Amino acid sequence: MVKRAQSLIVTSVTPQGSDAILLGLRGEGEQESLHFLPGQYLTLAAEVGGDELWRCYSITSEPVVGQPLSVLVRRVAGGRVSNWLCDNASPRQRLQALPPAGRFTLVHAERPVLLYAGGSGIAPVFALAREALVRGAPRVRLFYANRDRAAAMLLSELQALQATAGGRLEIEYWYDAEQGLPTLAVLEQQAHGLEQADAYLCGPVPFMRSAGDALRVAGFGPERVHQEDFGVVLDEEDAADVGPDASLTVQLKGQTYTVPVHPGETLLAAMLRAALPAPHACRVGECASCMCRLQGGEVQRLDNSVLDEDDVAAGWLLACSSRAASSALRVRFS
Ligand code: FES
Repeated sequence: MVKRAQSLIVTSVTPQGSDAILLGLRGEGEQESLHFLPGQYLTLAAEVGGDELWRCYSITSEPVVGQPLSVLVRRVAGGRVSNWLCDNASPRQRLQALPPAGRFTLVHAERPVLLYAGGSGIAPVFALAREALVRGAPRVRLFYANRDRAAAMLLSELQALQATAGGRLEIEYWYDAEQGLPTLAVLEQQAHGLEQADAYLCGPVPFMRSAGDALRVAGFGPERVHQEDFGVVLDEEDAADVGPDASLTVQLKGQTYTVPVHPGETLLAAMLRAALPAPHACRVGECASCMCRLQGGEVQRLDNSVLDEDDVAAGWLLACSSRAASSALRVRFS
């Protein structure tokens, strides 16, 4: 059971492009806990094939108290939760959700802003564009890439935003099917005239890598480049070969187990693959159910909103949000 979860009610399901929905949600009276900042995400649960699965979805709505919030959900190949939501979400349905979280938020008000969005990466980027305009940014430029026109999302919302922006919002739409993948030169060109801007990126990993390279060429230092990569929200199919093959020793409920960890796999995934009774719930670094202590070896920590610096200094880690960074490691559940 995820301690911080609450029940939300679906208020609307609106198709977006050829394979996504905008899901409207409201609390059951406890509006306080639905406060969020533009750019943050909500972690939703779905019961799929007998498993309770949790995934993060960026919030696109404005943070207006008492109003439903909306998240963008897009089908992905093998994406069990996203596909289930696209097929089954309906008004008045109840969904479990963790409080809004995330650090992909506007850093400076009143500065020019340069935005890159690929596919469903438009969700937090759209929220940031609106927030930047509300907070007085003199110029906001958005480069929005999709594989084709049919797949593009939030188009009418972007048009409406542009209509009220008083000429401060420029948008370049890009369709891979017609124009090919955007080149480094195309991405770098977006920065011309906005050399002092803060940049925000969200989209598929190759897209963000290319946009990051283009920004480096354009002279943007890392302190001005912000990106949302949902580091912990890796479905198994997304986990590229990252890190070494490793051997993980686990002390759990008085027993000691040793299991292999594949490259790119989280420690929790390795434990569950070996059928260890490791405590867990959300699997996205939000509930702390899988907290354990590193006793030896090194880990790569993915982003989480649960552990603070003191926890990390004391060796605590989230098994669902850590990968092996050495060939042997030991952890202990208390
Ligand atoms: S299972 Fe929730 S934080 Fe790891």
